[in-house]
Amino acid sequence: MSIHERLERLEELGRRAEEGGGAARVAAQHERGKLSARERLDLLLDDGSFVELDRFVTHRSTDFGLEDQKILGDGVVTGYGTIHGRLVYTFSQDFTVFGGSLSEAHAEKIVKLQEMALKNGAPIVGLNDSGGARIQEGVVSLGGYADIFLRNTLASGVIPQVSVILGPCAGGAVYSPAITDFVYMVRGTSYMFVTGPNVVKTVTHEDIDMEGLGGADIHASTSGVAHFAADSEPECLASVRDLFRFIPQNNQELPPTAGTSDPHDRRDEKLLEVVPDNPNHPYDMREVLTRVVDDGEFYEVHRQFAENLLVGFAHLGGRPVGIVANQPSVLAGVLDIDSSDKGARFVRFCDAFNVPLVVFEDVPGFLPGVAQEHGGIIRHGAKLLYAFAEATVPKVTVITRKAYGGAYDVMNSKHIRGDVNLAWPQAEIAVMGPKGAVEVLFRKEIAAAEDPQAATDARIEEYREKFAHPYIAAARGYVDDVIDPRDTRPRLVSALDMLRNKRDSNPPRKHGNIPL
Ligand code: HXC
Repeated sequence: MSIHERLERLEELGRRAEEGGGAARVAAQHERGKLSARERLDLLLDDGSFVELDRFVTHRSTDFGLEDQKILGDGVVTGYGTIHGRLVYTFSQDFTVFGGSLSEAHAEKIVKLQEMALKNGAPIVGLNDSGGARIQEGVVSLGGYADIFLRNTLASGVIPQVSVILGPCAGGAVYSPAITDFVYMVRGTSYMFVTGPNVVKTVTHEDIDMEGLGGADIHASTSGVAHFAADSEPECLASVRDLFRFIPQNNQELPPTAGTSDPHDRRDEKLLEVVPDNPNHPYDMREVLTRVVDDGEFYEVHRQFAENLLVGFAHLGGRPVGIVANQPSVLAGVLDIDSSDKGARFVRFCDAFNVPLVVFEDVPGFLPGVAQEHGGIIRHGAKLLYAFAEATVPKVTVITRKAYGGAYDVMNSKHIRGDVNLAWPQAEIAVMGPKGAVEVLFRKEIAAAEDPQAATDARIEEYREKFAHPYIAAARGYVDDVIDPRDTRPRLVSALDMLRNKRDSNPPRKHGNIPL
C-alpha cells in the first residue's frame, strides 16, 4: 500500500472518529438543547487549539452483541488545548455513543489525561454527559470509575480540576465531579443524583422529577453540589473560561496577573454611605466589594448557595484574590452550617493555589437554633475556622461593621494569622452585641428598675460607648489600623503588594484532620 493510500485510510478513520454515534444521534442531542461533545470543546477552548488523543480507541466487550458495535473514541473525546493561551487538558463525553457510558477503554482515556495533567502541572476540565457505568462491562466499568476517583483525589490541591455537567451524571459517577474544585451545571439539561426519581419513589414514596431532584438550580442553591448554574451550554462554557482568568496552572505557580486601567490609589466617596448609621439595618456587601476591586468585577462562586456569605474571585491591583465576605442583607450576615462549608471549601482552594484572601467582615455571630445545633453547627463552623487558620497565603481582613463573638475569631482574625487586619470607624468588635450583653450583665438590675426600658436603654448606651467601636482592638494591635472607608482600595492594594513575597508554613505532618 502506498503512503497516499495509507493517508486516505487515516483520513477516513479520522472522519469516522469525528462522527461519534452518527448524524441522527447528534440531531437528537441538538433537539434536546444539547451540543455535541466536539461543539462543546470548540466553545471551551481557544480557537483551533484542541489536539485530540486516543481517537482510535475502542471498547473490548463482547457481551450483548457489542463486538459488532465498535465506535472510534468509545464515547469520550480527550486531548489538550488552551484557554486564554494557557494549557488545559480536557475530556468531553459523547452521549451519542452508548449514552456516553463509561467502559474500561473510556475510563483509560480519562485516566491517561489525568496523569498527563498531573505530570505536566496543568488544569483538567471534564465535560460530563453520560449514562454512567457501561452496563455490558459490569465490574470492569466500576473499576474504571474508581481509577478516575483515585486520580481526582491525588490531583486535588495540585492542579485545578473543573467539572461541567451537561447531561446525566448519576449513581457513583457523581463522585468524580464531587471531588473536583468547581462544578458547573446547565438548567433544564443537566442533572446529578445518586439515585434517580424512580428509585426515590420506590424507597421513600416521594414524587419528584429529574430537575427537582438533581437539576442545576437545586444543586446550586440547596445542596451546594454545584458552584454555578447557567441557562445554556454556551453561557456555561464561557463562564468556565472566565474562571481561568483567576487561577494558576498548578499549586507551584502564582495565578495570572491582569492589566487594569483602574487606578491603584482610587478612593471611593460612596463607601462612606454604604453602611447605614443604624447598626441593625442591612446593606449589600456586594456593593462594598465591587467598589473596591479592579473595575468592579466580582466572579462570584456559589452565588445561589448560603447567600449570607459571599465568596468569589476578583483582581486587586491586577492580581487575583479570593474574596470571602459576610452578607448583612441575608440573615444579617450570620454564619451558619452551609455558609461555613461554603467558605471553608473556597478558602482551602485559594490556599492550595496561591490565591491571596481578602475578607470583608460584618458578622453578628453564629446562627442560633435547634436545627443549627442539631445539624452540627459546631462541626461545620469549625471547618471555616480551621481553613482560615491553616491558610498560609496572604490574608487581609477589613471589618466594615460587626465582628462579634466566635465569628470575630473565625473570620481571619489576627490571632489565626491574618496578615493585615483593618477596621472601618463603624466597626464594633466585642463578645456580643449591646442588647445581648446588657441582658446578660444587667438582668437583675433591669428587672428591679422602675422603668425597665429606660434602664435597658441607658445600659445599652453605656455598653456602646465602651465596646461598640474598633479602638480597643486597635489598642491591642488586633487590628493594624482604623481606616477611612474611602481608602479601602488603596490600602488593600498596598497590603497585598507588601505581602507579595510572604512565606509561611505549617508543621510537617501527613495531613491535618479538618473536622469534616
Ligand atoms: C450502556 C447505555 C447506558 C449505560 C445509556 N445507554 N446508558 N448503554 N450502559 N449505562 C445507551 C442506551 O442503551 C441507548 O442506546 C443510548 O445509550 C441512549 O440512552 P437512552 O436511554 O435512549 O437515552 P435517554 O432516554 O436520554 O436516557 C438517558 C438515561 C438512561 C437516563 C441516562 O439511558 C439511563 O437510565 N441509563 C442507565 C443509567 C444507569 O443506571 N447507569 C448506571 C448508574 S450506576 P441506543 O443504542 O438505544 O441508542 C453507575 C455506577 C458508577 O454509573 C460507578 C461508580 C462507583
